[in-house]
Amino acid sequence: MSKKILTILGARPQFIKASALSSLIRTHPEIHEEIVHTGQHYDNNMSNVFFDELGIPEPKYFLSVGSQSHGLQTAHMLEKIERIMLDVKPDLALVYGDTNSTLSGALAASKLHIPIVHVEAGLRSFNKKMPEEINRVLTDHVSSLLFVPTKTAALNLLSEGINADLVHVVGDVMFDVALFQADRALKYSDILEKQNLEPGDYILATIHRAENTDNPDLMVSIANALKQIGNRHKLIIPLHPRTRGILSKLGLWESLEKSVHFIQPVSYLDMVMLEKNAKLIVTDSGGVQKEAFFYNIPCVTIRTETEWVELVELGWNVLVNPTDTDQIVNTVEHSIGSNGKLEFPYGHGTAANEILAIISQYLSS
Ligand code: UD1
Ligand code: UDP
Repeated sequence: MSKKILTILGARPQFIKASALSSLIRTHPEIHEEIVHTGQHYDNNMSNVFFDELGIPEPKYFLSVGSQSHGLQTAHMLEKIERIMLDVKPDLALVYGDTNSTLSGALAASKLHIPIVHVEAGLRSFNKKMPEEINRVLTDHVSSLLFVPTKTAALNLLSEGINADLVHVVGDVMFDVALFQADRALKYSDILEKQNLEPGDYILATIHRAENTDNPDLMVSIANALKQIGNRHKLIIPLHPRTRGILSKLGLWESLEKSVHFIQPVSYLDMVMLEKNAKLIVTDSGGVQKEAFFYNIPCVTIRTETEWVELVELGWNVLVNPTDTDQIVNTVEHSIGSNGKLEFPYGHGTAANEILAIISQYLSS
């Protein structure tokens, strides 16, 4: 009889991560996966577009939880996921990353004694003010199989007392996806033509992290920096809806729009094209920091710490303080044209295969 995995996801980067593993699971008849989409992200360009473009199997359950405060959002997900788990009785629950959808899936499963698989375990910013740090620490501590992208992430888990037998260094599933989708992006994306962009002639930026956007002082400082960068370079920003709302609320939108080329969030293949052809990437996203490195594009990260420490150590990524407008602008100028070391700390693009092999073994033991 085939074994059942219930995958819980709900936010943009999780759809992208799941595209690697979920399509692979479909080639293994001994494992049956059902997907729960919590509805944390729900706009077409934050959700459906990824399922269509990356061939992610359609979710069996859609919870329509939507945007709410952390407590309410997590609680509503928890309540609904528990009901599904009681009904489906999966052999494993699978979660990705560090969002509220991750934590809800892990909590619901742990209370029902369903073993949990955490993909992208072990990452730490050591900043407990980040909701993501709470989500990943708690998820890691209730998981039975922890798939980590790097040795650093494995060491983080061991230093927290997690049993080494549960921890597997497999590389980064996002690297699998980047390798797999690179040619498709070339073939299918026409974003450069559509946005009138020349390769190597523009800076790409994304900004959405709560600790940057929800603090008005930081948001103003970052907005001022973006304005100055946009006055000197062509600057394109596919803007996360959280940030769009906050810039408008703070009255910053109209002035910024004169210097910055804002567009709606784009599909993954369009994002790959924008990343690969940028002269520099400025971001506070975890995934975008790594993708800059995958495509050898220098990156400036508007945060005081990063979970992806290898990027900084190898010289591909520079952290800048969100409060310091001048530092952001000057670092951007210095980083254009810079290079880091050519090493590959995130595996070989085989993370999903390795994860599935270990899951299969676990389920058959
Ligand atoms: C969430 C994750 C974050 C991740 C990010 C990926 C948590 C705590 N945070 O942050 O780790 O990096 O997703 O993008 O889980 N909104 C829309 N349409 C949507 C989705 C969101 O308009 O489809 C707006 C709403 O105003 C909402 C706001 O964006 O309140 C924030 O959305 P939410 O999912 O709460 O957090 P993210 O900032 O997206
Ligand atoms: N991304 C995308 N379209 C966009 C912005 C980002 O497809 O308009 C992709 C990006 O290429 C990366 C992932 O979304 O694969 C990163 O997600 P996000 O920045 O929302 O979250 P984080 O990685 O910070 O959790």
